[in-house]
Formats: sequence, C-alpha cells, structure tokens
Amino acid sequence: MRTIGVLTSGGDAPGMNAAIRAVVRTAIENNMHVLGVNNGFEGLMMGDVVEMNLRSVSNIINRGGTILHSARSEGFKTEAGQKKAADMCKALGIEGLIVIGGDGSFRGAQALAKQGIVCVGIPGTIDNDIACTDNTIGFDTAINTVMEMVDKVRDTTESHSRCSVIEVMGRGAGYIALYSGIATGATIILVPEVSYDFDKDVVDVMKRTVATGKRHFVVILAEGCGDAEKMAKKIEEQTGIETRATILGHVQRGGSPTVRDRVLASRMGNYATRILRYDNKSCVVAEKAGTIVDYPIDIALEMKKELDIDMYRMAHEISI
Ligand code: F6P
Repeated sequence: MRTIGVLTSGGDAPGMNAAIRAVVRTAIENNMHVLGVNNGFEGLMMGDVVEMNLRSVSNIINRGGTILHSARSEGFKTEAGQKKAADMCKALGIEGLIVIGGDGSFRGAQALAKQGIVCVGIPGTIDNDIACTDNTIGFDTAINTVMEMVDKVRDTTESHSRCSVIEVMGRGAGYIALYSGIATGATIILVPEVSYDFDKDVVDVMKRTVATGKRHFVVILAEGCGDAEKMAKKIEEQTGIETRATILGHVQRGGSPTVRDRVLASRMGNYATRILRYDNKSCVVAEKAGTIVDYPIDIALEMKKELDIDMYRMAHEISI
C-alpha cells in the first residue's frame, strides 16, 4: 500500500492530534503518502484532503482538538453516501484509511471496508465506551480535567456547607463519572450502568453522613442517568441541605492531552499505519493489558464492555 488517508470523526478527544502525528510520521518513514481528510466522513465524500508531510504535524502532540477537524455526517450514514466516499477514495488513490473516533466512526469504517477500502479504526473518545479496548484516546485527559474542576467546585461547596451535583459527560457510559468520582472523593456517584433508589442511595446516605459530622457533599452524576438541575432540587427538598447544580459540559473535551493519552495515541497511530503498510487488513486497534492489539471490525463492534461494579461498590464504601 502506497497511499493512505487519515481522518478524525465524531466528538473530538484530546490526543487525536498525537495519533495523527504518529500516523503521518510512520507512513512517511515507511515510504507511503498520507492524505489528511478534513471534517471526517463528510470531508471524505467531498474530497476535502490535503497532502501531509513531516512538518504538517510539527508542534501538535501537545494540542487538544484535531487539526483535521471533526464532524458527525448524516449523509455518510446512507449507502449512497458510503459509495460516494469509496469512489472518492479510489479517485484520490487512497488505498487504505485510518479512522480515529468512536463506535459510530467504526461503523462508518465497516461500511467503507465493505465498499472495498481497507480501514483501520483507532479508538478516540473521552467516553471510554469502546468495548474492545481498555482505554480510549482522550479518556485520561478528560478525567483529569473533571478532577481539577470538581476540586474547585468542592472548595466553595465546603465553604457554604452545601451539596453540589456535578454532571459529567460520557453519553450512555459511566466511566468518566466513576473514575473522577473516586479521584475527588465524591460522596455519591451515579452511573447509567447501575440502577439506584433515590431515597436509599442518595437521601439516606446523605442523612447518615450528616449524623457523623459531614457538612458538604459532592454528587457526581453521569449525563446518561439524569439531569443535574432536577436532581439538585430534589436533594434540597428532601434533605434540607442547600444544593447547587454544575454541568461541566464541553470543557471536558478540550485541553492539552496527558502523558498517558499522548503515549497511547502515538502507539496506536504507529501500529495502525504499520498494519496498512504490512498486513493490508481492515481492523480496529485496541489496548489490552498494556499491549496494542487489533480485532476485525465486525468483532470489535459486537464486543460488550462492562463497568467494573466492584470498583463502583468500593467507591461508595470509602466515600461516607
Ligand atoms: O462522545 C463524546 C461526547 O462528548 C459525549 O460525552 C457527549 O454526550 C457528546 O459527545 C456531546 O456531543 P456534542 O459535542 O455533539 O454535543
């Protein structure tokens, strides 16, 4: 394979730039041309590409976001859109494509592979909700950002003897909530994977800890299991403790990537590009027990990921 494309798709994640850098440098070092595709699959359908060289990716390993921009394309979800993208790849001489994104992006890669374009997926999303990999690019940075923000909210929560309900991202998954909740010593962590009883798991827990002298509370609420404003109101009504809601929002998707994300992205970008060069097969790259591995796209998309329930139990045992 001599010419490959690389794109970022779906919600951006810190570390995507480090992955793009690794792809471009590995490709050139192994005698391949790389076309950077702007705006994900939308840009691919339009042929919005730029030839990348070693210097195109200088000074980006430390930057959040993605220099190739990202998009969620409706047009590409149709068979006609997928054929258009495949035809564009052929017209541009793109023999293989690296897709950096989440599950939705991998479904796009799967569709393109069926149209004859070899595709390799790299998991990039802050949600860490991709089943085949232990860690996704962007997750570590996001949980560190959330930790920093929650620490700040806690200062004022403590000064005013209040409760703060802090809503974090994660779509349908509770990884960001669980990890940041443990790291910030949240009293209560609510995730979509574990059902809860408001009276028993929120109100009673708070009342019990008030009896031990606790005067301020942090509740971390995953966006997939409730609304922070409503929950804050309910808590205030039922406990009498003044409660505020904070929705962290898109701050969680930005910022300079952590060491772990830069290293993971560099390893995955290098691995994915070498697959296109030497194995020429469609797959998704993953990290398993510290090693970079790959799975066929169909299998990767069928896999299920379970939140560590024992970790969830542990968090609540030590949070009171
Ligand atoms: O998948 C990443 C993510 O940030 C989710 O955590 C969140 O639910 C969603 O994207 C937000 O998407 P948008 O940027 O389109 O509002």
